[in-house]
Amino acid sequence: MDRRSFLSASLAVGGGAAATASAAALSDRWSEASEPMETAGLTKHEIPTPALIVDLDAFERNVRKMAEHAARTGRRLRPHAKTHKCPEVARRQIAAGAIGVCAATVAEAEAMAAAGVGEILLTSPIVDPRKVARLVRLVQRGGRLMVSVGHALEAELLSEAVIAARIELDVLVDLDVGDKRTGVLPGESALQLARQLSRCAKLHVRGIQAYAGHASHTVGFAERQRVSAKAIGQAVETRRLFERSGIEAGILSGGSTGTYNIDAEIEGFTELQVGSYVFMDVDYRRIGGRDGSAIYSDFEPSLTVLTSVLSAAHAERVTVDAGTKALDATTAHKPEAKNRPGLVYTKAGDEFGAVSVEANGALPKLGERLEFIVPHCDPNVNLYDRIYACRGDRVEALWPIAARRGD
Ligand SMILES: Cc1ncc(COP(=O)(O)O)c(C=O)c1O
Repeated sequence: MDRRSFLSASLAVGGGAAATASAAALSDRWSEASEPMETAGLTKHEIPTPALIVDLDAFERNVRKMAEHAARTGRRLRPHAKTHKCPEVARRQIAAGAIGVCAATVAEAEAMAAAGVGEILLTSPIVDPRKVARLVRLVQRGGRLMVSVGHALEAELLSEAVIAARIELDVLVDLDVGDKRTGVLPGESALQLARQLSRCAKLHVRGIQAYAGHASHTVGFAERQRVSAKAIGQAVETRRLFERSGIEAGILSGGSTGTYNIDAEIEGFTELQVGSYVFMDVDYRRIGGRDGSAIYSDFEPSLTVLTSVLSAAHAERVTVDAGTKALDATTAHKPEAKNRPGLVYTKAGDEFGAVSVEANGALPKLGERLEFIVPHCDPNVNLYDRIYACRGDRVEALWPIAARRGD
């Protein structure tokens, strides 16, 4: 392929002088990559690859569907920002009816607060006094924060800090309902921790957080329902114990994209902290639907990685510009080519992926662009600093991904 036709194919513009002129204009457009970029008139074909893409139509349907589900079932919606780390996504979730967002890290909470996203629930334990100090500063600057606490030491650190800073803070007791990751055990242990928190006049216990990570990706609806009902059942019991003991427990926050329609039906469960539903991914599509279907299709895959074919020297495979730095490879499932059945992606290093084709299919050509649904959305988002928000082939906006740092 000569240079002219290569440009023409990869830029998806006319050939000849048009291709060359367009290439010059593009290099201007992208010359200062760290500056806010111009998207007016930009199409998907012009985005430098690899790139993270959100299909706005699918994304908006996902946001709306979850918000409607929460409203219909009378549950509050506090989506988890760990999935997207993106204030613009949070704003849209809140505009659709969410009461705020969850954050997994102090940095996420800071980024959301800095962007003016109201009511943030920090869902992870904090045992470092320096991080506690950052939380205090966030509140002093006007951030609306609630913190999950799962251990006596966390409670101690937090109460010392809020007393010293003379601030008030709402807290939830973080329960370990079976995934053995964080939190205190349900029942008496949880009650003891709630009592400890209540002894600090500046901390206000508002209820319980019970995230059941072991339920979210359980394959098959009936089994998922059994696992989640058992987990949330323990939280409901503990909530009753709190109330019988005179401790406020208005909130029972938990749930996931895989169990949203299970947990919301449980009496005593008040708040959904779902995350992945906005983007979806291959892992979630494999868990199976309520109707017995193999593919879980309650929410649509809206997030893809756009790649270009960089090399086509072999009869059985081509090479794309998305390796493990662009397509997260930490789960068992592979990326899936969007609208291109039969293509199979295999990682081929940090910068590259190999794409082959199942029986008798046609291999993509040099310069061709392919989109892949990501295996697991959260870590994949974390590989990028921006999302190209596209309506069809038109780039409608660029959304910065904030708080990619892990602290
Ligand atoms: C504490 C907590 N809550 C909620 C979620 C959201 O789960 P999902 O993305 O499966 O909806 C997660 C995800 O890991 C989580 O860690």
